[in-house]
Amino acid sequence: MNLWLEKLESDIPGSLKKPQETALFELESFFPGTSFDLCEQPGMGDAYRIENTAAGSFRLTGGSTGLLYGAYRLIADRLCGLDVTLPVVSSPKYTLRMINCWDNADGEIERGYAGRSLFFRNGRLDYSVSRIRTLGRLLASAGLNVLCINNVNVHDPAQLLLEDYLPDLAALSDLFRPFGVRLMVSVDFSQPMRHGIATADPLDPAVRAWWKETASRVYAAVPDLAGFLVKADSEGRPGPFTYGRNHAEGANMLAEALKPFGGMVVWRCFVYNCRQDWRDTKTDRPKAAWEHYAFLDGEFADNVILQVKHGPFDFQVREPLSPLLLGMKKTRLAMELQLAQEYTGHQIDLYTMIPMWKELYGELPADNIMSLAAVSNLGDDENYTGHPLAAANLYTYGMLAWNPDVDAAEAVTRWCRLTYDFTPVQEQTLVSLMLSSRRTYEKYTAPLGIGWMVTPHDHYGPNPSGYEYDLWGTYHKADRNAVGIDRTHAGTGYLDQYPDQYRIKYEDPAVCPDLLLLFYHRLPYGYRMRDGRTLIQRIYDDHFEGLEETRQMASALLALPFPEPDAGVIRSRMEKQLLNAREWCDIINTFFHRLSGIPDDKGRTIYD
Ligand code: GCU
Repeated sequence: MNLWLEKLESDIPGSLKKPQETALFELESFFPGTSFDLCEQPGMGDAYRIENTAAGSFRLTGGSTGLLYGAYRLIADRLCGLDVTLPVVSSPKYTLRMINCWDNADGEIERGYAGRSLFFRNGRLDYSVSRIRTLGRLLASAGLNVLCINNVNVHDPAQLLLEDYLPDLAALSDLFRPFGVRLMVSVDFSQPMRHGIATADPLDPAVRAWWKETASRVYAAVPDLAGFLVKADSEGRPGPFTYGRNHAEGANMLAEALKPFGGMVVWRCFVYNCRQDWRDTKTDRPKAAWEHYAFLDGEFADNVILQVKHGPFDFQVREPLSPLLLGMKKTRLAMELQLAQEYTGHQIDLYTMIPMWKELYGELPADNIMSLAAVSNLGDDENYTGHPLAAANLYTYGMLAWNPDVDAAEAVTRWCRLTYDFTPVQEQTLVSLMLSSRRTYEKYTAPLGIGWMVTPHDHYGPNPSGYEYDLWGTYHKADRNAVGIDRTHAGTGYLDQYPDQYRIKYEDPAVCPDLLLLFYHRLPYGYRMRDGRTLIQRIYDDHFEGLEETRQMASALLALPFPEPDAGVIRSRMEKQLLNAREWCDIINTFFHRLSGIPDDKGRTIYD
């Protein structure tokens, strides 16, 4: 399957080595008889210019990768039936447009919902070459250029990617190189200790020497490796804290080792106390990233990127923008998104993400960050993403990373048109179902920004108190009177981490946007919302609406003439989504009804 490039029939030959060769191959196969003049200008990098030279002939100018992106632009525009006025000039907003795979060496994918790993089997790199080529083609056509192939939780024997498996890593990089995709690896901060060194202290000379030697070995095998991705001192992973060092000391040590080879250290900021006592009301998990990193602004080497999850928690359906993305002006930052639908329906429920990303950009000046990263939704399912419509999240993520100003509806429409041969009315139906799917999911799950009412560990389906007395710092504190946590200055003080202009938007429940109300405030069930409804009524209404919208979505979606095998997969996933939506709606409504004792104004069925 070629997903949105299904109409490109020809296989990519193994003889292609460089992106510009792939560009020429793709263009000549797709536009037989048309002449293409490809002018490589290395200084242009990923940027391209497309112009007509004579009737029916094109000149593309760009760096090697730019020529490839230009080729896919021409092909995709033609597939979409778009007549573009030439010349077209385009360059990406961010140089590094990254995908993070959470694949383990045994072939399992942490939070993977599309099958097993495309890269690993039985503890080593082992894959289908033709699927890797197809993946390279898909990534390049979406403008994505960095692929971290292994889980940020580096479990044995994935460390061997820097050791015995280095030749295999080099062979895999060779396969991706014609698509302009550079590999990255997640590294284990304690890896020197596997080699007889007693410590992983970043200031220890033996540790520093080990990483330098390792970097030179790794770059001798894979000269264009994008760098190392690091999860340190997070959820049990080793890190500098063990040695009384801070994260600038840890990251800069690796950065020094990678610097001579042009490698980047991408250092994740997902650091919090995951052993919290639920009785402890002083600790508020969303404050953690800021507390660990903000004071280090300006301390990181220039080849370190701090990768910050978009919200202060962990990819809930709605969270505010992480304050770290607003507050570290002297540090290179990447925002981390999650295409894997860990908390958003496991690629069973329809959940199109670009409306959510656009909302984040409503708060985030695009220049605050220099890169985007997204946790992969890929696996070895025939369709790569489990749910065929989840492929739109991968494609539109690429469009967003190229140009954060992209319009959500245009991006989804482009993906639909590339993927399916629908009439304009059918296409319009599908696009509007996809664009509203996130809001629908939000309505039937945890209400108004509260998050974490999900089944523990698995994270599919409702369990409103599942995490309430657990160690993870994710509490809603619903009792018979009220729900939520006060995160204002008077409460946990989380809101104090924001610049004033953001703080004033959320500080007062009377002005705080409804959809984040319970993230920021603890409110009684009888609290009057701006539209006159009580809080409890709003919770009931949202849940009944979410379920009803899912039913309508199911009938509209299943009436569309999807080709097989997509039609069958979409049908069976939609059936599961209907059950999930009903379960969420009834359990959440019953949970709040039992606590509050307040009936639904409209007298709908709430089970007791
Ligand atoms: C979440 C997720 C983990 C993952 C972690 C991370 O907590 O549930 O599976 O390892 O995020 O981002 O590192």
